[in-house]
Amino acid sequence: MCGIFAYLNYRVPRTRKEIYETLIKGLQRLEYRGYDSAGVAIDGNNNEDKERFIKLVKKRGKVKALEEELYKQDDLDAKTDFETHFGIAHTRWATHGVPSAINSHPQRSDKRNEFVVIHNGIITNYKDLRKFLESKGYEFESDTDTETIPKLIKYMYDNRESEDTSFSALVERVIQQLEGAFALVFKSIHYPGEAVATRRGSPLLIGVRSKYKLSTEQIPVLYRTCNSDMSGLSCFCVLLCSAIIEHTNRVIFLEDDDIAAVTDGKLSIHRLERSASDDPSRAIQTLQMELQQIMKGNFSAFMQKEIFEQPESVVNTMRGRVNFENSTVLLGGLKDHLKEIRRCRRLIIIGCGTSYHAAVATRQVLEELTELPVMVELASDFLDRNTPVFRDDVCFFISQSGETADTLMALRYCKERRALTVGITNTVGSSISRETDCGVHINAGPEIGVASTKAYTSQFVSLVMFGLMMSEDRISLQKRRQEIISGLKSLPEMIKEVLSLDEKIHDLALELYKQRSLLVMGRGYNYATCLEGALKIKEITYMHSEGILAGELKHGPLALIDKQMPVIMVIMKDPCFTKCQNALQQVTARQGRPIILCSKEDTESSKFAYKTIELPHTVDCLQGVLSVIPLQLLSFHLAVLRGYDVDFPRNLAKSVTVE
Ligand code: F6R
Repeated sequence: MCGIFAYLNYRVPRTRKEIYETLIKGLQRLEYRGYDSAGVAIDGNNNEDKERFIKLVKKRGKVKALEEELYKQDDLDAKTDFETHFGIAHTRWATHGVPSAINSHPQRSDKRNEFVVIHNGIITNYKDLRKFLESKGYEFESDTDTETIPKLIKYMYDNRESEDTSFSALVERVIQQLEGAFALVFKSIHYPGEAVATRRGSPLLIGVRSKYKLSTEQIPVLYRTCNSDMSGLSCFCVLLCSAIIEHTNRVIFLEDDDIAAVTDGKLSIHRLERSASDDPSRAIQTLQMELQQIMKGNFSAFMQKEIFEQPESVVNTMRGRVNFENSTVLLGGLKDHLKEIRRCRRLIIIGCGTSYHAAVATRQVLEELTELPVMVELASDFLDRNTPVFRDDVCFFISQSGETADTLMALRYCKERRALTVGITNTVGSSISRETDCGVHINAGPEIGVASTKAYTSQFVSLVMFGLMMSEDRISLQKRRQEIISGLKSLPEMIKEVLSLDEKIHDLALELYKQRSLLVMGRGYNYATCLEGALKIKEITYMHSEGILAGELKHGPLALIDKQMPVIMVIMKDPCFTKCQNALQQVTARQGRPIILCSKEDTESSKFAYKTIELPHTVDCLQGVLSVIPLQLLSFHLAVLRGYDVDFPRNLAKSVTVE
């Protein structure tokens, strides 16, 4: 969805150029969340001028286009120092209103830009608010839901009871009128050098950098605006950690309805009302993230880098959890709930897109190891059906970002029904990881490419580890557990071996990149590979691609097969091998020319293949970790050859925070 980034320098002089650079760099780090338009709001003149104004620069297209516009408009070599300055920036993924400069953020209250706002989320009651504001004479210029917010705060300001009303008190009044989801940052000419940020349902964190030693690691939550003692502060409000890490690793995660304000360099956090369950303070946390983790390095795209990181990312997922010496698995986040999980009626695993595929990939091994019924559900469909959920169900929520709206809504639905909720996420501090009863961080490291790759294999491994932990004391399963644990141990080396096929896969892409369609077929443990491979192909190459369950071939899809239609078949040496051979015969009998992903030692399948890609053989339930990688690589090469920007597929964004 959208990315928001704001930067306050308090008594740390900065030139206009430095401010632009900080804002643009922040946006570039968040660009994968939305890239159809971008904008900034900064002070129009320096601190010495009495007549203040806010300068808005907005541009359709990527952040690069905004950057060029900024440099075109300004004489950046002129030395204009801003001793204290607050700049806000936004990169958009359109929900209401087409991508255009006028619809992009910051949105403003009026032509004088008295109040400007950046927003991630959706305001669901915006039509009512707009009607009300129009009745008061406000003229709207965009089609966005967001524009109601700066206009509403101006209305509150113009009708304030006292001259001393603080900026945060106005924001407090505004959010009482808002319905929906938001992370918001406000800037105003009436409150120079002050920053206010708030959230509900959309994530927001504040990065803190101070030239003074902070006297506290906890910021008390106040129920009236007053100051804590974080003087000499530089603050950054951002949506995701990756944009902040080059400035500071000290962050505060805001809770729903927190209002954070910086006035005279002092940060305060306050809330509207106190409830019994409120935590009385917000801790300053230290992010465990290195700058180089979010840089592309020698790779041409984040997606490519992340595909090649998989030998290490799966190790990080298992680190400290799998003991290969004594064949035990311990997931610290679940250990206190294990008894309850073992007693449950069924496991329901819920996710969207790639995360859902990780559930499909591991369902069979989880049924085997937990001896429980396992349902896998697409979050949106699960909610559409009002699926019955009971208090003795255990519901898993799989999400790389931890912020996907459909998955989050499904989580809240299950919590209301008192089921135990378990989060499997890649983002510390995300809404899903905070709102679930317990969970597992997959520790894959930041995933920036819009097409998910390393998160899938780490989610896969995490779910397998969960199955292993559940079956620890099942005597009848010990041999099987041993086999899977040995498979986990050799996984990183085998992934390296698969990655060494990159050149061969590139050659295959050269043959296929002009095609309109690509089918991917398999069954059993590898059906999820087909779904995931087809998703990767369609999202970044814009080719039509379908993942087909080989058992369904004769019930319809066989009609698609002829000598032109490229079809990739995943045939592994597992219990479905013979059935896959039948599907292969059906394809070749219709003059299909299958490209087969098969095990190295499989001499049978290759006889009928137009081409083969041979993979190292591992235990059946882990083979999907290996078989998906050639399809990740293939989609990457196809997209590059077709001339598309792999990290910025059209119409998509990394984290889908709207329903
Ligand atoms: C595809 C992809 C999406 C996400 C889906 C869920 O490459 O990335 O299908 O998997 O939007 O996102 P998370 O896992 O963040 O909940």
